[in-house]
Amino acid sequence: MEVFRIKGGTPLRGSVKVSGSKNAALPLFAAALLSSEESVLENVPNLSDIRFMAEILTELGASVERLDQTTWKINPRSIVHYAPYELVRKMRASVCLLGPLTARLRRAEIPMPGGCVIGNRPIDLHLRAMERLGATVELKAGVIQVEANSLKGNSIFMGGRHGSTVTGTANAIMAATLAPGRTTIDSAACEPEITDLCRMLTSMGAKIGGIGSHMIEIEGVESLGGCRHRVIPDRIEAATYVLAAAITNGKILVEQAKTDHLGAFLNVMSDAGINVENSGKNDISVDLRNGSLNSFEAITLPYPGFPTDLQAQTCALACKANGLSILTERVYPSRFMHVPELLRMGAEISLEGTSAIVRGGKPLTGAPVMASDLRASAALILAGLAAEGETWVQRIYHLDRGYDSFEKKLQALGAEVERLPESEMPKAFDTSSA
Ligand code: EPU
Repeated sequence: MEVFRIKGGTPLRGSVKVSGSKNAALPLFAAALLSSEESVLENVPNLSDIRFMAEILTELGASVERLDQTTWKINPRSIVHYAPYELVRKMRASVCLLGPLTARLRRAEIPMPGGCVIGNRPIDLHLRAMERLGATVELKAGVIQVEANSLKGNSIFMGGRHGSTVTGTANAIMAATLAPGRTTIDSAACEPEITDLCRMLTSMGAKIGGIGSHMIEIEGVESLGGCRHRVIPDRIEAATYVLAAAITNGKILVEQAKTDHLGAFLNVMSDAGINVENSGKNDISVDLRNGSLNSFEAITLPYPGFPTDLQAQTCALACKANGLSILTERVYPSRFMHVPELLRMGAEISLEGTSAIVRGGKPLTGAPVMASDLRASAALILAGLAAEGETWVQRIYHLDRGYDSFEKKLQALGAEVERLPESEMPKAFDTSSA
C-alpha cells in the first residue's frame, strides 16, 4: 500500500486543470451498453473506479479499449446479463448497470452492493423503478435478479427520505429509454451528472424531455445507436482545488471549472471570505478576500444544494476559519469518518446529531491519519497542506478512486506532497493496527 507524506504551510500558487467527472463518467460507461453499436467517451478521468467499470463491461462481453489517456471506446455488440461479484463488490456504482441490462436484454443479475463506510446506502428506489416499468425483481443469494418479458412506460417517483437518488434516477432513465410508451420520472435527481447522461442518451437517439429538472419525460424508442460524447468537468474536483487554495491562503487558477455547477458551494465560500472569480470561459481564480477565513454554515442537500461530496473537505477548511462553523449532513447522516482523524491534527470538532460543529482558527498540526473513504482522504490531505509539520495519510487507495493525479496536480501548485510506499512511514506513525 502507498501513503502520502505532506509538509504543510506552503500557499498554493499557479493553475490546475480539472479532469472529467467520475460520477458522470461511470453511468455513461453503463449507458453505452444500451446500444449494440460502438460509443466513444472523451474527457474520461484516469481513476481506479473507471478501470473497474471498464473491467466489468469487458466481463459482460463488451470490447473496451482505451484510445488515449482520456478517450475510451466501448463496443457492446454482444453482452451477457450477469456481472461477477468479485468486480461489482469493489465499486457501488456498478449498480448503474441494472437499468441498461434490463432495458437491452430484459434481464439483469447484479450482486447486491455491500455496506459502505459513508452510511446506509439502500437501493430500494432503483428496484422499485424497474418494477414500475414492468420487471419482476427478486433477491436470491445476495444477487438482484431482474426479469422482464416486456417493459412498458409508466410513472415513477424517485424521491426518498434523503432526497432524490442520483444513481437510481440514472437507472430509471436508462431503462425507460427502451421501454415502449411514455415514462414520467417525478422527483428525479437533477445533478449535472444526470443531465450529462441525458445528453449522451439523446445523442444515442433517446427521446427525453425535462432534462435538468425534477420531472423527466421519456418516450421509449425501439433501439439506440452509438455516439461520441465528452464527459463534463468534475465539479467536486474543481471545488476541492478551491478549498486547497483557500486553506493554504494561496492564489490559484482552476481551469475547466463550471461555476454554474457550483452555486451553493460558491455561496458558502463567499461567506467564508474566499474570492472566486470567473477569469475566462470555464476558468476561475481563487484567493482569500482579506487574507483570513470567516466561520460559515453549510447544509448538504441534493443538487442544487451544497454537495455531500464536499462536506468532508469543507470541514477541513472550517478548522482554519475563525470562530464556530457548522456543517450539517442531510444526504448521508453519518458521513463524518474524517472527524476523528482531524481531531488527531488538533482540530476542535464536536458532532451533534447530523452536524459537525467546528471551532476553527487554531493551528493544525501534522499527524499520521487514516483515510476512510474517497472524500475523507481529500479532507485529510487538505488539512495536511495547512498543518504545521508533517502529515502522513494512510489508505490513499480511496483517493485514487476519485481524484485524477491528485498529488501531481498539487505538486504543480507548489504543495510539498509525495506518494511513498507504506514501508517509508516511520514505524512509530503506523496507525493501521490501531
Ligand atoms: N437512497 C435511498 N434509497 C435508494 C437510493 C438511495 O434511500 O434506493 C438514499 C441514500 O441512502 C442516501 C440518499 O438516498 O441517503 C442519496 O443517495 P444516492 O442514491 O443519490 O447516492 P448514489 O447515487 O449511490 C451518488 C454519488 C455519490 C454521492 C451521492 C449523493 C455516484 C457514483 N455516486 O451516489 O458519490 O455522494 O450520489 O450525491 O454518482 C463520491 O463520489 O464520493 C460519492 C459517494
